[in-house]
Amino acid sequence: MGKFFTLADYDEIANRIRERVNIEPHVGLILGSGLGQLADSIENAIKIPYHKIPHWPVSTVVGHQGRLVFGQLEGQNVMVMQGRAHYYEGYSMAEVGLPVRVMQRLGVETLIVTNAAGSVNPNFSPGDLMLITDHLNLIGMTGRTPLRGPNLDELGPRFPDMGRVYDRELGALARKVATENQIQLQEGVYICLAGPAFETPADLRFLRAIGADAVGMSTVPEVTVARHGGTRVLGISGISNKANLDGDTLTTHEEVLEAGQIIVPKLAALIRGVLRNF
Ligand code: HPA
Repeated sequence: MGKFFTLADYDEIANRIRERVNIEPHVGLILGSGLGQLADSIENAIKIPYHKIPHWPVSTVVGHQGRLVFGQLEGQNVMVMQGRAHYYEGYSMAEVGLPVRVMQRLGVETLIVTNAAGSVNPNFSPGDLMLITDHLNLIGMTGRTPLRGPNLDELGPRFPDMGRVYDRELGALARKVATENQIQLQEGVYICLAGPAFETPADLRFLRAIGADAVGMSTVPEVTVARHGGTRVLGISGISNKANLDGDTLTTHEEVLEAGQIIVPKLAALIRGVLRNF
């Protein structure tokens, strides 16, 4: 059997964090590629670099700062991941899911997860925000899931329901905040692939045919752990590039990070509005 974490492992990590942090976070926030800036406005911030936390997967990708930030945002106690680890970096799915487990052990009840994604829906443009209404777990369908291995019954059931992954109330709140702040909010289905190579035009036509609106290389594993443990989820994609359906354009990581600069202010306004109205 591969390496799976035990409840004692998660609690050891949570206790190490508690030695340095004196607040109980209720909201977890994962900031994806090029979206980390929001963490810089956390009040009373306590920052812990990932490499100082046992077992914590350290992000190796440009655009991921790699630290936890605890503090307040719009009056809520938050725990922010400024950067995340991906399966393509070489981590196991158990490692990719570990941060959300630790969040749950620390008291997080709501997870706000963000990512950079390519648009598969032709009506989306780079710079758009997309409320994730559901996901296609293509990577999980092939066996790559953080729930593989012994089930930790204390945390959640062996066969968790995935009928309502993205919380409807939180989604409604995000729509309301977007309208009030004149932020255009697209909606759709996110699909997670392993990456790190971007998709071929044929891949993208396939993804469109099976019902995806945006494609990325993260989020679904973390959200699966969140739902297994009963954590409420709000997911937002920042559309960083148009899918290259005809093969005429190229997709680069630089493009993804540049789009982040346009997305961050809108994303920050949206997340702040949601937290204020919790
Ligand atoms: N494909 C997959 N992942 C991505 C993309 C993309 O086009 N853009 C940002 N992350």
